Amino acid sequence: MRRLRAHPRLRQMVAETDLSPDDLIAPLFVREGIDTPQPIGSLPGVVQHTVDSLVSEARRLHSLGVPALVLFGVPVAKDAIGSGASDPQGIVQVALRRLAEELGGQMVLIADLCLDEYTDHGHCGIVDRRGAVDNDATLERYQAVALAQAEAGADMVAPSGMMDGQVAAIRQALDGGGFASRPILAYAAKFASALYGPFRDAVDVTIAGGGDRCGYQQDHRNRREAVREVLLDVAEGADMVMVKPALAYLDVIAEVRRRVDLPVAAYHVSGEYSMIKAAAAQGWIDGPAVALEHTMAIKRAGADVILTYLAGELAEVLNG
Ligand code: PBG
Repeated sequence: MRRLRAHPRLRQMVAETDLSPDDLIAPLFVREGIDTPQPIGSLPGVVQHTVDSLVSEARRLHSLGVPALVLFGVPVAKDAIGSGASDPQGIVQVALRRLAEELGGQMVLIADLCLDEYTDHGHCGIVDRRGAVDNDATLERYQAVALAQAEAGADMVAPSGMMDGQVAAIRQALDGGGFASRPILAYAAKFASALYGPFRDAVDVTIAGGGDRCGYQQDHRNRREAVREVLLDVAEGADMVMVKPALAYLDVIAEVRRRVDLPVAAYHVSGEYSMIKAAAAQGWIDGPAVALEHTMAIKRAGADVILTYLAGELAEVLNG
């Protein structure tokens, strides 16, 4: 075996997996009502952007060859139904209009489609009197959010709430609203994960009453169920499917790759990023090397694209 490992050019020639800036999607946060970007303690190097700093960061990523971003909003006010998510003046819609104006056609603008950043109870949907998330009432809200995002200039919407039927409902709303050509990136197999902790700091979300998302996100013990989730989203009209988180679910990514011909995305989530940063800051691991190893593993498992807070720094390394 060692004959083909003798020197770097040879290893490069026989490498089975490739990672390029083209494979990366950068998650970005935009916060309403701030004048300067705000650091996020548990996500070192990531900030809550102002609309202006968001545009500069998008330009920087574009110049590094990163083709896409996914946008999350942090509103000033939250309410029971997450009104800000579908308000034409809501922070994500305002930011999308600016991005579309300044970078339209140059970068793929993806809008995360969910309610949790906008609800005062922190759930991804509408909560009924008993405190349970009402699936179908939530679907109506998702349809309104999809239309608001598409109108504001989202090239693609990415529903992340794990309601049953969300892809079909959103497809129907987009088609009916004159946006038949806008694709859906479905968070298809999204697990109820402790690795989302830093993200909830980034978007100021606390789930009311110490609750969790186990009533709608998937149980991490289940791989076959993940495939069922993905196949349902494909049948409902998803254009791309996502597995999330990534590293703890490489088996799921590999299985989805085998079963589906659509592009497969994987989300290397906030906790995965923070673990690298924290250990690297202690000098316990080589951060950039681990970042490359993690993302390469996600590609090797079968993902075509990776959503990652490492997008900018990886693109810098990959561009050499
Ligand atoms: C829900 C959403 C979450 C993430 C992306 N979309 C959080 C959650 O489900 O609680 C997590 C992303 C990350 O951890 O990086 N809108």
